[in-house]
Amino acid sequence: MKLIAPSILSADFTRLKEEIQAVETAGADWIHADVMDGHFVPNLTFGPMVVEAVRRATALPIDVHLMIHEPDRYIPDFAKAGATYVSVHAETCAHLNRTVQLIRDCGARPGVVLNPATPVETLQWILEYLDFVLVMSVNPGFGGQRFIPNSIAKIVLLKKMITDKGLQTLIQIDGGVSPQTIADIAAAGADVFVAGSAIFNSPDYRRTILAMRQLANR
Ligand code: DX5
Ligand code: ZN
Repeated sequence: MKLIAPSILSADFTRLKEEIQAVETAGADWIHADVMDGHFVPNLTFGPMVVEAVRRATALPIDVHLMIHEPDRYIPDFAKAGATYVSVHAETCAHLNRTVQLIRDCGARPGVVLNPATPVETLQWILEYLDFVLVMSVNPGFGGQRFIPNSIAKIVLLKKMITDKGLQTLIQIDGGVSPQTIADIAAAGADVFVAGSAIFNSPDYRRTILAMRQLANR
């Protein structure tokens, strides 16, 4: 099953509840929330308070993508705020196994994120403990960037690693996902499609999500 996860990074924050409810009504599967600290990535967004507000605006799973140094310091707060899924960048964790365990102990489902230049092999000894892997197809920090083409080959490699290990781990893709790029990404083996600007900058969320879902399932 292919899942669509609109990223609220591209939503109108003056109407955040309305925007979330609009994508929920339009058929979104997860709500993707991008947390940035101005250190790991060159941008700042929001913390657990906003995630808690998102929790009150929707019944959908909330997928918190942490682009922050020392994620262990904040994981319990995000879990308490209502995060269903929490992902951390492999590049930010000195003790990745411990961080993944912490996410689970807090009652959320763990994912690990790979930057565009971080190899799939990084996951060799952590994959079996994850619910999902997030492959970044842009350098994290901003919405509206162009999809990095070799992310496709990376998904194929990751899919093979998951299959070879007999696992069910979901593959999520984030960055430059649009009706133009989604079919090839889906064919490579991705399951969960994060899209910010492609959905929130479109005039009709329902049409866009439907079109993306159809292209992903082809
Ligand atoms: C980027 C974020 C993405 C962002 C994607 O660092 O992780 O979730 O919202 O934006 P688009 O879909 O516009 O590339
Ligand atoms: Zn993201």
